[in-house]
Amino acid sequence: MKIGVIGTGNMGRSLGILWAHQGHEVFFGARDISKAEKAAELAGNHACIGSNDDAASFGDILFYSPGVVLVSKVLQSPSQLAGKIVIDSSNWNIPEGFKFEPVT
Ligand SMILES: NC(=O)c1ccc[n+]([C@@H]2O[C@H](COP(=O)([O-])OP(=O)(O)OC[C@H]3O[C@@H](n4cnc5c(N)ncnc54)[C@H](OP(=O)(O)O)[C@@H]3O)[C@@H](O)[C@H]2O)c1
Repeated sequence: MKIGVIGTGNMGRSLGILWAHQGHEVFFGARDISKAEKAAELAGNHACIGSNDDAASFGDILFYSPGVVLVSKVLQSPSQLAGKIVIDSSNWNIPEGFKFEPVT
């Protein structure tokens, strides 16, 4: 499975490494490329690195870890998320801009 990690912090790095070790194709996205480099070294399995936009483009499934930072602040092209499965690690109260009607 192709997984794009948006934000290589504690959660993105840890889960991305675990997913790579399970054989998934992982792309670590970060605004500080050195953080993505370190994660990719630990991940192995040809993990890729780049910008958060690149990670969003790469993955069929995306892991979004910047918390309650709006997607429009993290990605230059938020429309890249359309049609993709996005796992948001936020466990805070959901701000207005994040609320959406579930698809049934
Ligand atoms: N840690 C846990 O055990 C845990 C468990 C469950 C849920 N959560 C939730 O998961 C989320 C992430 O937790 P974490 O511990 O991984 O936090 P973290 O280590 O601070 O990682 C957050 C990531 O988001 C990036 N980021 C933040 N603001 C950004 C922005 N404006 N533009 C681009 N990138 C941005 C950070 O980039 P930089 O490194 O460049 O700042 C970092 O890569 C939080 O909402 C937290 O409450 C955490």
